[in-house]
Amino acid sequence: MSATLQKVAPLSGGEGHRTPIDSGAGVVLEMRSVTKAFPGVLALDGMSLKVRAGTVHVLVGENGAGKSTLMKILSGIYAIDGGEIFFRGEKLDHQSAASALERGISMIHQELSPVLDMTIAENVFLGREPTYSRTGVMSRFVDFDRMNSDTQALLNRLDLKYSPQTKMRDLSIATMQLIEIVKAISREASLVIMDEPTSAISDTEVAMLFRQIADLKAAGVAIIYITHKMDEIFQIADDITVMRDGQFVAAAPASEYQPAKLISQMVGRTISSIFPKEEVPIGDIVLSVENLSRDGVFENVSFEVRAGEIVGLSGLIGAGRTEVARVIFGLDGADAGVIRLNGKPLKLTSPKDAIANGIAMVSEDRKAEGLVLCRSVGENISLANLKKFASGLFISERQEETASQRMIKMLQIKTPDTAMIVENLSGGNQQKIVLAKWLLGDLKLLILDEPTRGIDVGSKSEIHRLMTEFARQGLAIVMISSELPEILGMSDRVVVMSEGRVTGELTRNEATQENIISLATGGH
Ligand SMILES: Nc1ncnc2c1ncn2[C@@H]1O[C@H](COP(=O)(O)OP(=O)(O)OP(=O)(O)O)[C@@H](O)[C@H]1O
Ligand SMILES: [Mg+2]
Repeated sequence: MSATLQKVAPLSGGEGHRTPIDSGAGVVLEMRSVTKAFPGVLALDGMSLKVRAGTVHVLVGENGAGKSTLMKILSGIYAIDGGEIFFRGEKLDHQSAASALERGISMIHQELSPVLDMTIAENVFLGREPTYSRTGVMSRFVDFDRMNSDTQALLNRLDLKYSPQTKMRDLSIATMQLIEIVKAISREASLVIMDEPTSAISDTEVAMLFRQIADLKAAGVAIIYITHKMDEIFQIADDITVMRDGQFVAAAPASEYQPAKLISQMVGRTISSIFPKEEVPIGDIVLSVENLSRDGVFENVSFEVRAGEIVGLSGLIGAGRTEVARVIFGLDGADAGVIRLNGKPLKLTSPKDAIANGIAMVSEDRKAEGLVLCRSVGENISLANLKKFASGLFISERQEETASQRMIKMLQIKTPDTAMIVENLSGGNQQKIVLAKWLLGDLKLLILDEPTRGIDVGSKSEIHRLMTEFARQGLAIVMISSELPEILGMSDRVVVMSEGRVTGELTRNEATQENIISLATGGH
């Protein structure tokens, strides 16, 4: 856990290091001894990477290991401090974002940043809009017809049923991520970097992405793929590079890895159980949702959650799970139905009401709802709990600091201190801050929407352990997750939704992958 300039135990790597992935024929990218420092953080410390053409190279490491930073250097977003990059035999110097694209390096970013007021087509072709001609006056005018029809063709190729003229604002996070994928693929790059491309999408769309990846591979394109999902790694990796604390740990063909070996290389220790679920006493009904409907979104949704119980909400993207959660949390209104908390009907008009009633929600969209990115780690953690630290008009800074420190330690958040601006933390560590913020409160019901999205295996099992801990303390937990292993591993009961309706409820024993998928696809 060193987020400071401290060095960890020396690892092999750096210049002259030989890996089983030979530097001979087929190596399209080689990064040597790459170093990058941010104020107070040595993000990359002599990191090396070798990628072969026509392969999927999975890059793994804990949250904050430096994966995204390495990729941002490769795609010209950050300047390199030290080290060398060779791409298709050419040494890359003074790489800029534009020159990286020009050389054929395209990147799907972990943190989505679509221009919300633009259409899908405008986003896909941002910065390289087709014009009426290459020269002369007409070259200044964007050919919108062509842009739309080219985008339509791309959407068709990926089986996505959206109009190119839809505004980004009207899309779900999952769809925005799909559009990011469309954009990266459409650039006809020879290296496509995918930084956690499936963090927001469900299994169906993942299958679509994997088909695209197979096509890209067949065309000789190299793919660098970053993910925290174990099943994905073993499904698509040809080669794997493991990094830790900005340093190279190991690289080998995927066939030489099993999950246990990979995890221990990543976290530097073995993890006994990925899903540390324990039986805890189940108490009275805390939440009961009765025939809840929101017009055009979901209908007649009913389920109950008892104290100490973890109820998994499963379903495909668009099934209406998040929408139900939003109503329970007071973000949206219901058109019919009743929500009861400890038997009493709830009339919520805002999340503030919900929080006052002991309901918390960890949202899937940490940027929009979970965090104030420009504020510090400490401020974000205590944001929802200001009352707790306030005596009269004053906020006890010392108490606030102690509580924040405790959460940082408990969740192993990688930050130099509580003053660090949240925007500068790695993606997974940002997600932990969202959790920390709520876990500090006095709660009856905790709604978790994709709680471990983008979180590394080690911290994931920490968060799962915490969930069990909160259940033991009598909290009722609703967990929405698109990861079936997480649903199966952590739920006492699984409620499955499809197209805005509950299609089934399964006990822990009944819940199998097949049963859930069958209910999630409408019971066919
Ligand atoms: N712009 C920045 N300013 C300051 N520190 C930064 C900045 N970007 C990244 N860092 C720090 O560099 C380290 C590596 O971050 P990076 O985002 O590369 O991690 P990661 O491996 O991609 O993690 P994750 O799995 O959570 O996405 C972290 O400690 C992070 O806080
Ligand atoms: Mg990252």
